[in-house]
Amino acid sequence: MEYKCCALLTTALILVMLVNCSALRCAGNSYSRGCCGKEAIAVGERQCALCNTIPTRTCCVEGAITDYFQMDQFEKMFSNRDSLEVESHANKAFWDYQSFITASAYFQPYGFGTTYINRKFTGTKEVAAFLAHVATKTSCEYNMTTRKPSASSLCYYKKTNSNSYYCDEQYKNTYPCTSGIAYYSRGALPIYWNYNYGEVGKELDVDLLNHPEYIEQNATLAFQVAIWRWMMPIKEHQPSAHEVIIDYWKPNKNDTLGKRVSGFGATMNILYGDLVCGQGDNESMNNVIAHYLYYLDLMGVNREETGPNEVLSCAKQVVFNPSSSSSP
Ligand SMILES: *[C@@H]1O[C@H](CO)[C@@H](O)[C@H](O)[C@H]1NC(C)=O
Ligand SMILES: *[C@@H]1O[C@H](CO)[C@@H](O)[C@H](O)[C@H]1NC(C)=O
Ligand SMILES: *[C@@H]1O[C@H](CO)[C@@H](O)[C@H](O)[C@H]1NC(C)=O
Ligand SMILES: *[C@@H]1O[C@H](CO)[C@@H](O)[C@H](O)[C@H]1NC(C)=O
Repeated sequence: MEYKCCALLTTALILVMLVNCSALRCAGNSYSRGCCGKEAIAVGERQCALCNTIPTRTCCVEGAITDYFQMDQFEKMFSNRDSLEVESHANKAFWDYQSFITASAYFQPYGFGTTYINRKFTGTKEVAAFLAHVATKTSCEYNMTTRKPSASSLCYYKKTNSNSYYCDEQYKNTYPCTSGIAYYSRGALPIYWNYNYGEVGKELDVDLLNHPEYIEQNATLAFQVAIWRWMMPIKEHQPSAHEVIIDYWKPNKNDTLGKRVSGFGATMNILYGDLVCGQGDNESMNNVIAHYLYYLDLMGVNREETGPNEVLSCAKQVVFNPSSSSSP
């Protein structure tokens, strides 16, 4: 009798755990394609302690970005973001370290900046890569003369395009556009289109279809939207930027034929496609790479960890989504 009760209690506890897991959507949801799902959270967070010592786990999530990324590093990366030249473009002091850290906290349990692969920590590399993309996407200037990453990144936080509302009528039932509202590029990694605003709004529980402007007013939200873009594949059956930078993604035969491998190059392929990839030695591509390498230095990661040029760049990669056949 007592035993039975205990067993029931245990079952109940396991159920509660499973319910909690599915609330985090680590079991069977899209984020679970990173390692967080089956290997980590779904089997209980304690499984994840001491990620760097458990030989049986190929993939594991532990810790927090604040363990290795501090405000002074952020300030060095974006030291000119509030300078006079950028003043006309942006609200002073819109972006800050704390908004990035607060935004990250939401995604850390899913492995953003917190993943170990084969007991090797990938978080520092991932944060450097993510911020390199953010920097180039929000930069007000890039010095073509010196080819140096400019410190005035984190300047723009929206890019209007009066020619389009970015409303895809195919999604009018799931993510209906609000009349008169344009779903143009907003956020630290820009998102466009009603379906993206709808998806990320649902995820974060913010009504972005009616209020896309929240992203322009709230830096934490602007970073959250960007990390969401980073964690989610553009299309089903494709890897996310997260999966390729942590080296979790396994290319199939087509990928190999198209010279697509896990690494920084593939993050550009996923986020920008043929705007920068598969074009040989492209200036825009080199700009993103330059930011990445510079940030790795600032975060104390050896540049050799980026791998050979075929991994670091996407100059020769066939793009996942040719721009002629897809929306940005
Ligand atoms: C680019 O760098 C060069 C050399 O430091 C400098 O003279 C020039 O003014 C810079 N250009 C911009 C747009 O900042
Ligand atoms: C900004 O966004 C964050 C994350 O979505 C939210 O928690 C916070 O309440 C927002 N701040 C304001 C002032 O609306
Ligand atoms: C490989 O590419 C071919 C031609 O583009 C396509 O028909 C096929 O479905 C792809 N296979 C996989 C596994 O992606
Ligand atoms: C390469 O980068 C430039 C921006 O520097 C861009 O305008 C151009 O379209 C890109 N593609 C090619 C094929 O050069």
